[in-house]
Amino acid sequence: MSKHADQATLVTVKTLLKRKQDGQKITMLTCYDAAFGGIVDKTALDMVLVGDSLGNVVLGMKDTISVTMDIMVHHTAAVARTVKRAMLVADMPFMSYNISVEQALTNAARLIQEGGAQAVKVEGGSAIVPQIRAMVTAGIPVVGHLGLTPQSIHTLGGYKVQGRGDEAAKMLREAKELADAGVCAIVLELVPQGLAKEITAAVKVPTIGIGAGPDTDGQVLVLHDMLGFPSEFSPKFLKRYATLGETIAAAVAQYDLEVKQGSFPAPEHTFQ
Ligand code: KIV
Repeated sequence: MSKHADQATLVTVKTLLKRKQDGQKITMLTCYDAAFGGIVDKTALDMVLVGDSLGNVVLGMKDTISVTMDIMVHHTAAVARTVKRAMLVADMPFMSYNISVEQALTNAARLIQEGGAQAVKVEGGSAIVPQIRAMVTAGIPVVGHLGLTPQSIHTLGGYKVQGRGDEAAKMLREAKELADAGVCAIVLELVPQGLAKEITAAVKVPTIGIGAGPDTDGQVLVLHDMLGFPSEFSPKFLKRYATLGETIAAAVAQYDLEVKQGSFPAPEHTFQ
């Protein structure tokens, strides 16, 4: 199906807004390549995020800081080859939008034009409102991201719940600023349930939670985490829906055994 073949089933910024207005939940998962993109796009999943978590998840980096624009464009383009129905969002990586409005526009344009994304996601609040306004004005849908923002890990000092105590009012204010600047959704990561609920009620755009409880307008998880790929990362908010790590290891072990004992390839796998 081409991106324009079946407008009725395409997920767009308008779909997201309507979901919120109708009280219907929005689903989002990360995805980093064409193989997984083709699988997730066959479901009813609403949004696919090429997250800069790909640094941790598929590139073996220790955090998201080393992920570059070229890496994001490369992986977004791969996912865009198979995701034709869900809304495709690409993360703008560390320092690719913080320097100036011009820098943000140039890099967002690459993710849309070369990568094939429908929207970009940026981490942060008041400080990046001018960049968000400029991208939205240029016709680029933008998803905001508040709470635990992994690109600021050195400032935050660890992967901890954000927005407790005095920080709550600031996050609520920044969520309103992002909504006023024109974001089409806001990811809330590692935020207490009550604050996520308050922000969700206060803004007209959908909130998508990860570790933010059940009261946000939608949920997002990292694909490899929810599929049960082996990882030392096992936070409280994560639910594993499969144990693919074990399934893959068992298949590889069986292949290794059969080749070494001579039972694969069998006659049915062999040309005469
Ligand atoms: O990079 C990512 O995967 C993300 C999600 C956790 C929202 O930003």
